[in-house]
Amino acid sequence: MASLTIRKLDENVKTYLRLRSAKNRRSVEEEVRVILRELIEGREEPLTPLAAPPDVAAPAPTSQRTSALPEASVTLIIGGGIAAYKSLDLIRRLKERRIEVRCVLTKAAQQFVTSLAVSALSHERVYTDLFDPQSEFDAGHIRLARDCDLIVVAPATADLMAKMAHGHADDLASAILLATNRRILLAPAMNPLMWNNAATRRNVAQLQRDGVVLIGPNSGEMAEAGEAGVGRMSEAIEIAAAAERLLRPPVPRPLAGKRVLITAGPTHEPIDPVRYIANRSSGKQGFAIAAAAQAAGAEVILVSGPVDLDDPDGVTVKHVESARQMLEHVQASLPVDIAIFAAAVADWRVANEGEQKLKKTSAGMPPLQLVENPDILATISKLIGKRPPLVIGFAAETEHLIDNAKSKLQRKGCDWIVANDVSPATGVMGGDRNTVHLISRKNGEIAVDSWPVMTKEQVATELIAHVVKSVADKSLEPAS
Ligand code: CTP
Repeated sequence: MASLTIRKLDENVKTYLRLRSAKNRRSVEEEVRVILRELIEGREEPLTPLAAPPDVAAPAPTSQRTSALPEASVTLIIGGGIAAYKSLDLIRRLKERRIEVRCVLTKAAQQFVTSLAVSALSHERVYTDLFDPQSEFDAGHIRLARDCDLIVVAPATADLMAKMAHGHADDLASAILLATNRRILLAPAMNPLMWNNAATRRNVAQLQRDGVVLIGPNSGEMAEAGEAGVGRMSEAIEIAAAAERLLRPPVPRPLAGKRVLITAGPTHEPIDPVRYIANRSSGKQGFAIAAAAQAAGAEVILVSGPVDLDDPDGVTVKHVESARQMLEHVQASLPVDIAIFAAAVADWRVANEGEQKLKKTSAGMPPLQLVENPDILATISKLIGKRPPLVIGFAAETEHLIDNAKSKLQRKGCDWIVANDVSPATGVMGGDRNTVHLISRKNGEIAVDSWPVMTKEQVATELIAHVVKSVADKSLEPAS
């Protein structure tokens, strides 16, 4: 049977489901089941938009920062304690971060916060009973335990932690905690004497050995008059941040602090104001490398010839036409730590570029005199002083791939060459895939590392992984 992931539904469908389920005091999943049942029985409610009650309005507004984040979901178990009131704020803080929240209230928690308030804030039905026939007909506690990305317990009372440490499952909260295969974040809250009690210390140590993550408790005044010490539950914003760190661990940025320069695309060499010499390069490989370097945390400058591609996010792109303009922008971008020359630079330009459009004459085609363009890769490789510590060239060959690439490495003076066969049969020029060989020097010898056929994005990721390794091995001095 197919299974339906509600958080992958369209935003307006989710909003409709949330409003309808909150109105009917059912979980979103139950609401979907009811809708399907009614549909089969031919008595479905019309799908007219529901007016949102003021406190069960559309999903919490998301900031520019959070809108690109992947969605996640949390089962929040609210334990019984005065700190339970902070969990209402916690629901809001999690939702601000595009984290869906389904709440479970223990019996004791219901003395401090109401299901109504929790349901209105979470836009979901609230769960309280292990033996609730409505949700248990399909093992609701198992779904609450597993149909989420993280379980948060706030406040985590001494009693709840003791039950967890000993594997008890005599109510909904402890059954979920025992049945889950998701990570668990506890925000303990209790009197300082309870926190320091030997039994609690043993339980905390056991839970940490079991891989449970704790946030807090903080020290401060207790609700009980005149008492202070360690035991106050962490603030909602701290718990939400801890949950987010577990749900969306920071992406490694191994090239942070490095400047990477990349050339890409063809160059256009003018013949006259309307005509030019060009080649079939699409720029896809260079753009993919720029995106991969940016994702690895580098500051990326991409100097690109004319291409039909969107500028990669977070990359400084300089658009140029000719080889001479490309060289100018490359030189102006120095110093850099790593330079990757993926552009298919035209080897020649027209010496006698026409100021006006060349006209047909009875004498036939006017002779085009070609002169060699500057070799950007060779120029930068041979620089003294500003030479980037790692210079990588490409070799586009149609025959004798490895031999030609090896001699290019020597001739141009770069550190590595990425050799690719661009004969028409390979479809590399303009295509999406590439088969490359990384040619480098190892212990005075030339080494060839042949990679399997990959997409240009995969080639880019692999190349940047090699760059990262080389940066780590050689500890490249920062460009200054
Ligand atoms: N390159 C460059 N400037 C040029 C020509 C090439 O920077 N005027 C760079 C390319 O970006 C690539 C490498 O040199 O990194 C090799 O380019 P390729 O076109 O394969 O070789 P060519 O130098 O043009 O030599 P040949 O025409 O003999 O293959």
